[in-house]
Amino acid sequence: MQQPEPRWWQTGVVYEIYPRSFADSNDDGTGDLAGITGRLDYLEWLGVDAIWIAPFYPSPMADFGYDVEDYTDVDPLFGSIGDFDHLVAEAHQRGIRVVVDYVPNHTSDRHPWFIESRSSRTSPKRDWYTWRDPGPNGELPNNWISMFAGPAWEWDEATAQYYLHMFLKEQPDLNWRNPQVRAAMFDVARFWLDRGVDGFRIDVAPMVMKDPELRDNPPNPSPPSGHHMGSWTRQLHENDHAHPDMHELYRSFRRLLESYPGDRVSIGELYHPDYAVWAGYYGERQDEIHVPFNFHLTYSPWTADAVRGAVEGVQAALPPGAWASWVLGNHDQPRFASASRAGRDQARVGMLALLTLRGTPTIYYGDEIGMVDVPVATADARDPLEHREPGRGRDPERSPMQWDSSPNAGFCPPDVEPWLPLAADAPSVNVAGQAEDPDSLLTLTRRLIQVRREHPVLHRGDFEPFGPTPDGSYAFRRRSPAGRLVVALNLSDTPVTIPSEGAGQVLIGTHRDRDGSLVDGPLQLRANEAVVVEER
Ligand code: NOJ
Repeated sequence: MQQPEPRWWQTGVVYEIYPRSFADSNDDGTGDLAGITGRLDYLEWLGVDAIWIAPFYPSPMADFGYDVEDYTDVDPLFGSIGDFDHLVAEAHQRGIRVVVDYVPNHTSDRHPWFIESRSSRTSPKRDWYTWRDPGPNGELPNNWISMFAGPAWEWDEATAQYYLHMFLKEQPDLNWRNPQVRAAMFDVARFWLDRGVDGFRIDVAPMVMKDPELRDNPPNPSPPSGHHMGSWTRQLHENDHAHPDMHELYRSFRRLLESYPGDRVSIGELYHPDYAVWAGYYGERQDEIHVPFNFHLTYSPWTADAVRGAVEGVQAALPPGAWASWVLGNHDQPRFASASRAGRDQARVGMLALLTLRGTPTIYYGDEIGMVDVPVATADARDPLEHREPGRGRDPERSPMQWDSSPNAGFCPPDVEPWLPLAADAPSVNVAGQAEDPDSLLTLTRRLIQVRREHPVLHRGDFEPFGPTPDGSYAFRRRSPAGRLVVALNLSDTPVTIPSEGAGQVLIGTHRDRDGSLVDGPLQLRANEAVVVEER
């Protein structure tokens, strides 16, 4: 049977921009929309197909924009709606699509909807949020905990009820079981679709609807120690996460997107440790979320066994014909090149894997030059999560983009203090330097994107397991009528030999010194080396 033509969100490469940290155009130390527009030529040169911009809506910034006060405007810190329209027009002119964040689970406590809701028990918007009486002895309505530590309930003195917040108390949860909430939030989506956005990244997509009876979560009998989710892991999130009622919601959200011309996309922030639950968000007929982000590589240790497990686990769980997605990092996770994740020596191996796996890759800004976490002491932390649960703060992975070797790395003028400290390595690790260096990670990333575009087997081919490889290494195959490739990754710092079934030619390698060379017989990989071999 003829395969349908793939869509842009399957073949394309997505690039995540954290707008506070990308480029500051008005010299206030915080990135903004005009700053992004000013760097579109760079993104075009890099070759990405779409940018996803984290929230830029008016916000008190308790969670740096994930607490939205007005869903249909731009915070003055980031510019104006005119700046947004200009950004979209300029991006589209360069063939770059624009995906914006959609934050459905919660608003800011300063959103007019919440202000009205909390004004009295009889407010017409009371039921737009989840309000509950205390128990007979003043107890919390249930045992749910905030993902940001502490109880998920906040007491409202004036109306003597608790409201639900799965994140900060400044982020009250909307009640999506109320049809008016759904209608209002679908109007929000229409507002941005009408302005020409190419889709949405849906924040905490599996939390939006909860158990209607708000039943307690059972405790987790074996909570992992030192887990990045901290106290959240103390419970099994049976009743506040991945409720089945969300499938209907995402089907109807997709219908909304597909009622617009131009292939608009939904990308869901969709972590679930159970592959089957995660894959369920494609929908039984693949009619739910177009691209359920898959964080299995982000959350696995960067070891050959874990990578094999994640890649093959995801491939096996995908519904027939479904298209995976891959992410190595984002604004909530330690940077991939940091020692606490994969480390600098593996940055190239990770980038090569990300851009050759079967599925839509998303690159986190700065990962293409190997940016690493920039430590921020708890006392100085900007991220409230660090103050609530030290060690979980996300400032380190949000440091300003390193554009050049000037004092503030070209992010903001030298005499302005950036909102977060710059990396000490910025004078040597930056776009300007790496763009000119044929051996840099940036040059490799750009070339990998080109190779991916040039080779249908990479951007649309099937995935095939390769079979056993020596400890510390992993290999997989890509196949299409256009050809067959082996991708071989050495995740260790000692050489390995990958068994081979025949002859081939190296299409691209992390070290770049064997591109084009012929291989016949076993494939020798140096420490921290990965190659793509076109089989003959
Ligand atoms: C996930 C976002 O990526 C994160 O930055 C935010 O704090 C939470 N959702 C709450 O919106």
